[in-house]
Amino acid sequence: KRLAIFASGTGSNFQVIAEAIRSGSIRAELVLLVCDKPDAAVIEKAEWLHIPAFVAEPKRFETKQVYEKAVLAALEEAQVDFVVLAGYMRLIGPTLLQAYGGRIINIHPSLLPSFPGLHAIEQAFAAGVKVTGITIHFVDDGMDTGPIIAQEAVKLSRGETIESLTDKIHHLEHTLYPRVIAELLNEE
Ligand code: GRF
Repeated sequence: KRLAIFASGTGSNFQVIAEAIRSGSIRAELVLLVCDKPDAAVIEKAEWLHIPAFVAEPKRFETKQVYEKAVLAALEEAQVDFVVLAGYMRLIGPTLLQAYGGRIINIHPSLLPSFPGLHAIEQAFAAGVKVTGITIHFVDDGMDTGPIIAQEAVKLSRGETIESLTDKIHHLEHTLYPRVIAELLNEE
């Protein structure tokens, strides 16, 4: 399988997935990073790892459709057949869904369907939940909807802060995401 990762930020998930591919625990080739933020730290990580990057700011395109057509062209040129979203902070539109529907997965830092959207960790914390977690799911046309593939729970300790909870959740993402990607791709 030829994989593309979409990311907008730090790229810690990008890095652990790239390492799992390099070590052979995920049997795939990481052929492209798609990034919508020219100053994102993930771009430097891709450079270190010699992974080609397609970096484009959506606002520089006339419409979302035109932007997605450019992304699609890059995916097709790299012969990508599976897409992993790892902190890609925008909705996948009809152009990409039509081409890659059922072959795009996402990770979200809550137990969906609770707390979809941008501030899941903060919202769960503010709601005073005692258990939250992470969800890996197939992407459809909704915001953090789509069939769930895997979930793992995180308990909040007494004295938990947003920072400590965020750390716990990220840590768990870094073990679960590569494992689930391996389960999905290695069996094919
Ligand atoms: C992760 O918490 C992920 O769940 C969310 O965005 C964050 C990405 O972090 N969708 P990183 O860029 O992989 O470090």
